[in-house]
Amino acid sequence: MSAPKKPQVAILMGSDSDLEVMNETAQVLKDFKVLYEMKVLSAHRSPEDVQRFVKQAKSRGFKVMICGAGGAAHLAGVVAAQTTLPVIGVPINSSALGGLDALLATVQMPAGIPVATVAIGKAGARNAAILACQMLSLKETSLQGKLAKFKQNLAASIRKKNDHLKKQLQS
Ligand code: RP5
Repeated sequence: MSAPKKPQVAILMGSDSDLEVMNETAQVLKDFKVLYEMKVLSAHRSPEDVQRFVKQAKSRGFKVMICGAGGAAHLAGVVAAQTTLPVIGVPINSSALGGLDALLATVQMPAGIPVATVAIGKAGARNAAILACQMLSLKETSLQGKLAKFKQNLAASIRKKNDHLKKQLQS
């Protein structure tokens, strides 16, 4: 199946102050050549805009929604409440509590409304994109090879670190 021309992934964030973290998601999707749309939408500050966007998401061709928010992070849950698309939540370390508040708010969803919650901050933002690519790869077979190559590269980078450590210990 050839790569679709419309954005497949929506990257939503509660504030532009989340952008530095959510840019990690965008970069991974770019590396995998997956089209995305990025928006600032707040569950608390612009709830009607969130609802409008989510209601149109499926008909616009989105397949996965990635939502980053900090503090009392309700964005991913509110999005998940209104769609059957898979929702991935990225807890952002933007508050005085360092993101633990956002992690708990994002992960502790009631039964029936799942949010696939990743790690706090940039590692989670990158993993959200990889997980989205894995979901898309079930239909888009061209992504399967890229994901396999990505894992091989990770293993190669760790072997290189190990070789480097070995040399340091010998000297
Ligand atoms: C959350 O509040 C946002 O996701 C952000 O992480 C945090 C702070 O937002 P700003 O006050 O910087 O706009 O809703």
